[in-house]
Amino acid sequence: MSVAAGLEALLDFYVSAGADAWLESEPVDAFALAARPPVARHSASNRAPLDGTPAPSRAAVGQDDAARPAASGRLRDGPAQDRPRPVAQPPAAVTTASGAVLPGDEAVVAARDAARTAATLEELRETLARFEGCNLRLTAKSLVFADGPANASLMFVGEAPGRDEDLRGVPFVGRSGQLLDRMIEAIGLSRGDVYITNVVPWRPPGNRTPSPQETEICKPFVLRQIELVRPRVLVFLGGASAKALTGAQEGILRLRGRWTQMPLGEGDAIKAVATLHPAYLLRNPVQKRLAWRDFLAVREALGSLQAG
Ligand code: URA
Repeated sequence: MSVAAGLEALLDFYVSAGADAWLESEPVDAFALAARPPVARHSASNRAPLDGTPAPSRAAVGQDDAARPAASGRLRDGPAQDRPRPVAQPPAAVTTASGAVLPGDEAVVAARDAARTAATLEELRETLARFEGCNLRLTAKSLVFADGPANASLMFVGEAPGRDEDLRGVPFVGRSGQLLDRMIEAIGLSRGDVYITNVVPWRPPGNRTPSPQETEICKPFVLRQIELVRPRVLVFLGGASAKALTGAQEGILRLRGRWTQMPLGEGDAIKAVATLHPAYLLRNPVQKRLAWRDFLAVREALGSLQAG
């Protein structure tokens, strides 16, 4: 085997073992970092109080919005008092020279602090674009924030963008997205009627599963999106999304079709249900009948909520 082939095989081994992001050329003493005093956790809920939160902008957060890079420092539509606030970031001590952070509790705390300060979806998108606590942003091409109107009655949450979504900066535009569009149309809606996002807004390298830490760091931002959109019905696309957002432990075939309430704080809650991920349906078309049942139930829930 040539040296080049050997190195290539070694790289393949690293990637398949999950070491897919270069962090730093100097070793980092993780024991020394772990010995530092823990960062105080917030005792209050990680969700921003809804009372007193300014009404969310009803402007669409469409494909163009989602794909647009962060405005350089200025919030687009804000008057003087809306000048960009500094985004909560993990402490500098855990940020390496390459800009990567050592993921830990600090990043989760910083994400909660950053997400709760956003009063509109646009502000949240810009906050997320400036948030440095998740290393996935270093390997992804785009921030894939969301697609759809901010006042949608129906919201879908997937796991993480794939290659097509990363290239376009829009969630669910690849093969899975095309199937999702058809499923949405099958219940009499169109893609433009619904709000679509993911738990993790950056593509993990090689489409690997986001790590539990990456998911925890990104979660406050998707929870804040749910609060700001306040859909009448929320659909988790796949087990990863359902588990991350509800804390459920069961597999998706047990979870799907079971309605639950997603608490919003202050006693408020949104009707939520999990269904099979379109990527799973592409691999297992025979299971489409289960997803169809879930979509019919979603249509009914939307109808009965409208009637009520
Ligand atoms: N799969 C997801 O979970 N999200 C996307 O945006 C695309 C595919």
